[in-house]
Amino acid sequence: MRLVQVSDCHVPGPADQFYRGQDPRAGLVRVLRAVEAWQPDLVLATGDLSEDGSAASYAWLAETFGRLSAPVVSTPGNHDDAGLMARHFSRCAADGPEVLDADWRIVLVGSAKPGEIGGRFTPRQLDGLSEALADSGKPALVALHHQPWPVGSPWIDRYRLENPEDFEAVLSRHPNVRLVLWGHVHQDVAMERAGLTGLGCPSSVSNSLPGCARFTPDAAGPACRWLELEPDGVYRTGILRPED
Ligand SMILES: [Fe+2]
Repeated sequence: MRLVQVSDCHVPGPADQFYRGQDPRAGLVRVLRAVEAWQPDLVLATGDLSEDGSAASYAWLAETFGRLSAPVVSTPGNHDDAGLMARHFSRCAADGPEVLDADWRIVLVGSAKPGEIGGRFTPRQLDGLSEALADSGKPALVALHHQPWPVGSPWIDRYRLENPEDFEAVLSRHPNVRLVLWGHVHQDVAMERAGLTGLGCPSSVSNSLPGCARFTPDAAGPACRWLELEPDGVYRTGILRPED
C-alpha cells in the first residue's frame, strides 16, 4: 500500500497572502503534482491545511486536493477550524477518529485544542483512538497533528502534545501500532519511541532546518512524506520533493 502524508499547507483566505515569505498555494500545487506522479493509494493530510480557518481557504484546499486520483483523509491542526474543515473534507477526524482498514489499520485522530497552539488529547479522543485500534490483527499507523514527543527544535517543542503519557498508555495496549505520524514541526523527523517509530512530516510551504532554537528556513523548500506499507508490517518511507 502506497501512502503520502501532506501537512501544514497554511493556505490563507486571501489568494495573495504569503506564509513565512512563501506562496502557500504555489507550494501545495507543486507538492501535489509530485504526489500525483508518485501514484499513492491514499493521502493523509495532517493539519494546518488552512492558515486562518477561513471558508475561502477550505474551498480552495478542497478543490485542489480533490483533483488527486487518491482519496484524502485529514485531521485538523491548531490553525484549522475543525467544523468548517469537516464540511469541506468528507473524511476528517474533527469529531472522532477516521479509520481505514486496508493492509494496515490507519487511524487519524484530532489533537488540536481550540484557541491554543499546543495540542491535547481529551479522554473522549483517547477512548475513540483505543476503540479504533482494537480487534485488529493488522499492523497499525496512527496520525495526528501535534508531535507527541520533543523533536529537538525548541521553537516548536514548546507547542507539542501536552499529554503524551495518556497517548502512550493507549499505544501500550495496542502493540500492533508500528508508526506514529505527525505534522506541525515543519521538518523531516524520525525517532524511535515507546517501542515504535515516530515520523514528523515537512510542510508543503515552508520548512525549518532541524535542531534550531528558532525557525530557520530550509532552502530545500516544500516537501511531503511517502510511505510503502507491507501486509506483514514492513514499511519504507522517505521525503518526496517537487522536482520543478
Ligand atoms: Fe501546527
